[in-house]
Amino acid sequence: MGGHNRRWGTHVQLHHFTISWELKAWIDQVVRVGKTMTYGPTGPKGLLGGKKVVVVTSRGGFYSADSPSAQSDFQEPYLRRILGFMGLTDVTFIHAQNQARREQVEPSRAAALEQIRQIVSQTANAAEYLSH
Ligand SMILES: Cc1cc2nc3c(=O)[nH]c(=O)nc-3n(C[C@H](O)[C@H](O)[C@H](O)COP(=O)(O)O)c2cc1C
Repeated sequence: MGGHNRRWGTHVQLHHFTISWELKAWIDQVVRVGKTMTYGPTGPKGLLGGKKVVVVTSRGGFYSADSPSAQSDFQEPYLRRILGFMGLTDVTFIHAQNQARREQVEPSRAAALEQIRQIVSQTANAAEYLSH
């Protein structure tokens, strides 16, 4: 993650309703006192405020807010929590859903790509987005 970049983008797969162990290992290295967060008189304080984050996820199933599986998505709430812990509260999620349903793979992927294109086109310098 670039310390001076205002935006940060990453792609994550849904694994067993949450993040992959690889991403968790990365988080454990990045979320550190004095680096990305600190403790003050009022408690924990994130040090990365002001940056925008775009998280692109892919998942085999469908977990939108109005679907029966919505409560099984522990990935987006967890990532919002841990990103917020570092001060990153301006977070946009783009989900490529239904990647295990053959007939849904391409339309879902195309819909996610279109959302990514829209965000990138609104950004003066797409290179501001970094991947972990
Ligand atoms: C170990 C493992 C666990 C997974 N658990 C879930 C899950 O809980 N829910 C789900 O919708 N998809 C699950 N999947 C499917 C992946 O999310 C899906 O294959 C992946 O997002 C496709 O990513 P890609 O487009 O980068 O190839 C799992 C995949 C693996 C390998």
